[in-house]
Amino acid sequence: MTRTERPAVPLTGGDQIHAPAPGTEWWRDAVIYQVYPRSFADGNGDGMGDLPGITSRLDHLAKLGVDAVWLSPFYRSPQKDAGYDVTDYRQVDPRFGTLDDFDAMRARAHELGLRVIVDLVPNHSSDQHVWFQEALAAAPGSLARDRYMFRDGKGADGAEPPNNWQSIFGGPAWTRLAPREDDGPAGPQWYLHLFDSSQPDLNWDNAEVRAEFEDVLRFWLDRGVDGFRVDVAHGMIKETGLPDWDGKVAMVEGSDGANGGSNEGPMFDQDGVHEIYRAWHKVLDEYDGDRCLVAEAWVSPMSRLARYVREDEMQQAFNFAFLVTKWNAGKLRDVVTESLETMDAVGAPTTWVLSNHDVVRHASRLGLDETADGPMNGIGPADVQPDAELGLRRARAATLLMLSLPGSAYLYQGEELGLPDHTTLPDDVRQDPAFFRTHGAEVGRDGCRIPLPWEADRPGLGFGPSDATWLPQPESYRALAADQQYGVDGSTFELYRGALGLRRAERLGQGGLTWVAGYADAADVVALRVADVIVLSNLGAAPVVLPEGAEVLIASGPLTESAEGIALPTDTTVWIRG
Ligand code: GLC
Repeated sequence: MTRTERPAVPLTGGDQIHAPAPGTEWWRDAVIYQVYPRSFADGNGDGMGDLPGITSRLDHLAKLGVDAVWLSPFYRSPQKDAGYDVTDYRQVDPRFGTLDDFDAMRARAHELGLRVIVDLVPNHSSDQHVWFQEALAAAPGSLARDRYMFRDGKGADGAEPPNNWQSIFGGPAWTRLAPREDDGPAGPQWYLHLFDSSQPDLNWDNAEVRAEFEDVLRFWLDRGVDGFRVDVAHGMIKETGLPDWDGKVAMVEGSDGANGGSNEGPMFDQDGVHEIYRAWHKVLDEYDGDRCLVAEAWVSPMSRLARYVREDEMQQAFNFAFLVTKWNAGKLRDVVTESLETMDAVGAPTTWVLSNHDVVRHASRLGLDETADGPMNGIGPADVQPDAELGLRRARAATLLMLSLPGSAYLYQGEELGLPDHTTLPDDVRQDPAFFRTHGAEVGRDGCRIPLPWEADRPGLGFGPSDATWLPQPESYRALAADQQYGVDGSTFELYRGALGLRRAERLGQGGLTWVAGYADAADVVALRVADVIVLSNLGAAPVVLPEGAEVLIASGPLTESAEGIALPTDTTVWIRG
């Protein structure tokens, strides 16, 4: 054994912190793949992905072996925030196709055994929504204005915003209307928008708003969807009186408050939101099968998140605490334990997620110095650039660790190809409102939203029938195109496919979890047993020697051999038959 190797440790014993949970509903242990429609696949050659494009590539997901697909919004929208600004909740945006295209996509997905989850955006609508247009045309105090959060301003002539809240995309969270003759003494009113000024917040104390969204749920349930991802699920109810708050709001609260932001202000996580989800739970109960709601709720501590998945509320909530955890063995153990214990307490499955359309992809994030407070939601050309090789190695190790964990896991399109962010996008192609509202101080999220590479030798890397792509693809995407990875031993696609197959066969999603005693406090090694599989992640520099005779099921990278036996190199995860 070389001096730097870590000798083998028996992989027995340890504390079980999560009991096996052989739940019956599909979502309890499902692996759910996020499709970002504008960047998945383009059917008509306009450079923007669409529903026919998605349908044409569903075989990729079936081959990969996921259980469900979640689609980010494809509804009618001026696309000021890439579709998270909806003008018609019951209509497909012409850029993405038609309702018939949706039905065809849904039918094909179900034929392939894939469930379909759609995105619901209830915190705000687009300013082009007929309700907001009515509100603009109506007088202060009217029923039409009551559907949104209109208020008189403060100060002389109401010239100052009603409070000091800031938009999550930067700048003030209030915009003032143009003057009208019937304005009161405070002059033109202001409206609240936690996000872009084109995304006015709805008033969830208004009964019509509540009834409308219950109806929207039924509309899509009638069209056969299996569930909803609920956007900004922690934001719909604001503290009474809308008190000033001096904190800085942040969608992505970095680990240890890394980006200086918080989501603990009076606009978030108010107790009143839960009544909404209890009502929605009942709507889902009107339908057969196991339909589900998943909360996008950036709240902490985790015990607050668990309130969204109590028995009569939603079924799942994204585990962003896991996503923001640094590549550190102790911190990973802590977040896994806390996640399982907190969700077990309310009988909900834990979820796991490493990437989505709002954060820097984990292949890039983990390629930054782990001690630095890396930017969570965007890397630009002027920032320190990630180490691509290191990032991919760690990303594969992190994913293989994640896919062993009990509960449900979310994948973001392209991570199965090992895609990094585009970190050198020129400013003139950027589209994220966060870039514009912060005057470039934040580059925004475009870098994780690049059109997917399907075929290395085709124009636009096979994104669609033309060479158009709504954002440019970096040169590094060519070698990572899907057709370069299918059937190729050691490719990231085959790693994901292999892990998903084993996860299903070994029933890891329903397994109990035990921290392997010999590594329970190790600074550089995460070691756990789920069902009959032992998982080791080596985050340290020294290779970890595996016990003699260990039967390796899958590894995130090549293992090494020494006189002492097989060893697990740095930044690598292995699954071993337990
Ligand atoms: C959610 C979405 C994000 C969007 C925001 C406003 O956080 O994930 O993409 O910008 O809500 O709707």
